[in-house]
Amino acid sequence: MEYTVMMPAAGSGQRMGAGYNKLFLKLEGKPILAHTLGVFEGDSACKGIILAVKPDERSVIESMLEQFAITKVTAMVDGGGERQNSVAACIRAYDGDGVVLVHDAARPFIRRAVINELVKVAAEHGAAIAGVRAKDTMKFASAGVVEETVDRDMLWIIQTPQAFRYALLQEASTRAEVEGFLGTDESMLVERLGYSVRIVESTYDNVKMTTQEDLVFGEILLKSSRI
Ligand code: C5P
Repeated sequence: MEYTVMMPAAGSGQRMGAGYNKLFLKLEGKPILAHTLGVFEGDSACKGIILAVKPDERSVIESMLEQFAITKVTAMVDGGGERQNSVAACIRAYDGDGVVLVHDAARPFIRRAVINELVKVAAEHGAAIAGVRAKDTMKFASAGVVEETVDRDMLWIIQTPQAFRYALLQEASTRAEVEGFLGTDESMLVERLGYSVRIVESTYDNVKMTTQEDLVFGEILLKSSRI
């Protein structure tokens, strides 16, 4: 089943401490962004990628696309101050229907099987997000003091991709913008309109490259050829 990806890549990655966009950092000699784009480039069901970039990084990214033979980027839009604004810019640039996926450029290890399942579930039910079950004991605390141990069986750690019927995502994004609501993922924007969102079980190695330790983990993953 075909889909289009909206990919925010316009962050600054301050927690990585690289001093520049962390997506340019290399894993096994290839930039993180090129790894992530490569997953979708190689998926025949992906019919296009809309990329949100920082205006001053546009030309570097254009060269990267050429160097790594990424041909599916159909539009490059200017990102915004927050991740949600960058995704909103991608949504505005899309001119179609069907299912769209939102995927962070900083998650290069997403599996094709998870993508396909997300698209299938979103086509049928409207919205589907990738997640993994919480493995550790989870507690709710206030100012460092435990208030409650939470039932772990009900907790999921949510990742991207998040897949939606385009009309649903567009409505949710527009409403959030008009009402000044800022969420931490697109699912929140859809949930607040009362739509139900299904979780598709993903893998623990679909990590977001956020801090230096994640890079070490990423190198190990690539070397172990588990990806
Ligand atoms: O900072 P974080 O890793 O949580 O960002 C997730 C994704 O959103 C990254 O791929 C980053 O480039 C992107 N982003 C963006 N625009 C922003 C902030 C983050 O496109 N203003």
